[in-house]
Amino acid sequence: MKIKLKVWRQKNPSDKGGFVSYDLEEVSPDMSFLEMMDVLNEQLLKKDEDPVHFDHDCREGICGTCSMYINGRPHGPLQGVTTCQLHMRSFNDGDTITIEPWRSKAFPVIKDLVVDRSSFDRIIQAGGYISVGTGGVPDANEIPISADIANEAMDAAACIGCGACVAACKNASAMLFVSAKVSQFALLPQGEVESKNRVENMVAQMDEEGFGACTNTGACAIECPKGISLEHIARLNREYYFAKQSSENVSVREHVHEG
Ligand code: SF4
Ligand code: FES
Repeated sequence: MKIKLKVWRQKNPSDKGGFVSYDLEEVSPDMSFLEMMDVLNEQLLKKDEDPVHFDHDCREGICGTCSMYINGRPHGPLQGVTTCQLHMRSFNDGDTITIEPWRSKAFPVIKDLVVDRSSFDRIIQAGGYISVGTGGVPDANEIPISADIANEAMDAAACIGCGACVAACKNASAMLFVSAKVSQFALLPQGEVESKNRVENMVAQMDEEGFGACTNTGACAIECPKGISLEHIARLNREYYFAKQSSENVSVREHVHEG
């Protein structure tokens, strides 16, 4: 396959940046997208040019590091896959492929396609943890959890923190990411201890980082490679409401749950 690439090149955070075109010959349809990028970089290195900087690590859809906006969509044209799981057979001979970094004030570009996602780390530090007793190990069956709830918590825990939800959102909102991280604990009794502080602190940190508000467009859930559902955003809103209410009326949560 012959492929033309239009790649965002930006020397550093203060550089204006712009698209540069590259022609690639002999791209195999069986190459992964990142292998194709490796071929481009080998080509550039042979010509003594600066290779395109991009993030990657596991290359199997687990770590959430790969982050490219491909032909106007985070992680490219397929649903439910990350950039590293995308293959060149999803494109046609002669195609032009446009590659950009995630665009968000809270994800500033470091170089080329690499953005700084430490804002996500700071949100996790604000509340994405549970208290763990270090005494004797309790029997796993001592805290019975129904399969439905366990599965829902597991679905939320599938979030890999890639940031595609932010990149897809017209408001650059991080609500889907934060809702997954709040949900995975809110659904389980182990998450109960810090529940009030968790949701308040994570939402406060999200706002401080400069992410936009959620206006229920749903692009985040469409583009999320792990299928994180908008239902988690509804749960985040509920958790936040209960946390804010709790100091004024401690019984409101129990009342609504009973209802
Ligand atoms: S919610 Fe989905 S798109 Fe957003 S960070 Fe998690 S895995 Fe990535
Ligand atoms: S490189 Fe780890 S998810 Fe893509």
